[in-house]
Amino acid sequence: MKYKLKVIIGSTRPSRKGPIVAEWFLKIAQQHSDFEIELLDLKEIDLPLMNEPNHPSMRQYTNEHTKKWSKTIDEGDAFVFVTPEYNYCAPATFKNAMDYLFQEWQEKPVGFVSYGGLSGGTRAVQDLKAPITTLGMMPLPQAVNIPFFTNFINEDSVFEAKESLEKSANVMLNKLTDWAKALKEMRENAKK
Ligand SMILES: Cc1cc2nc3c(=O)[nH]c(=O)nc-3n(C[C@H](O)[C@H](O)[C@H](O)COP(=O)(O)O)c2cc1C
Repeated sequence: MKYKLKVIIGSTRPSRKGPIVAEWFLKIAQQHSDFEIELLDLKEIDLPLMNEPNHPSMRQYTNEHTKKWSKTIDEGDAFVFVTPEYNYCAPATFKNAMDYLFQEWQEKPVGFVSYGGLSGGTRAVQDLKAPITTLGMMPLPQAVNIPFFTNFINEDSVFEAKESLEKSANVMLNKLTDWAKALKEMRENAKK
């Protein structure tokens, strides 16, 4: 059985580095054959600031962009958020993208690839955990946190990581597989 893993890039500004980090992570994730992977870029998805009139738990969406986003997230069994840290928090794009939906996120695991200066984006990860747990998701403690991440970007704009970072990515992905499997079973049992 393959689990649908959605890797989500949260940064959207011009000259962002998020896609460079995400590409590196994607290559490692593709070696995990339990996953069928899709890369989602919040810049391309381009959700406006939350503009639905009804509470998302009702799933009465009025906008095409929300219906499309709902379908994309609904089919996911696991997520990885690739997040920078802005002012000790996650970028607002992630909060906005999460607020649009409710049921679609429930009982699904999420791992983090964070990057930044000294903190390696760890404060952004902690910031994300409040909405994530409120939405009934399982945030993994195993994460990839990359301090001084620009040191790993070469002149061709390719991320060249240390072995320890690759190891932390694999540890996280293995745990993500376990959680994806357990929570999919849980969701399916609840439907019976
Ligand atoms: C608005 C803004 C706030 C930032 N705040 C932080 C911060 O709190 N901690 C940190 O480690 N880096 C911070 N940085 C530096 C980012 O780590 C760096 O710019 C990184 O490239 C941002 O990711 P992005 O290029 O994918 O947008 C900040 C950058 C911006 C643009």
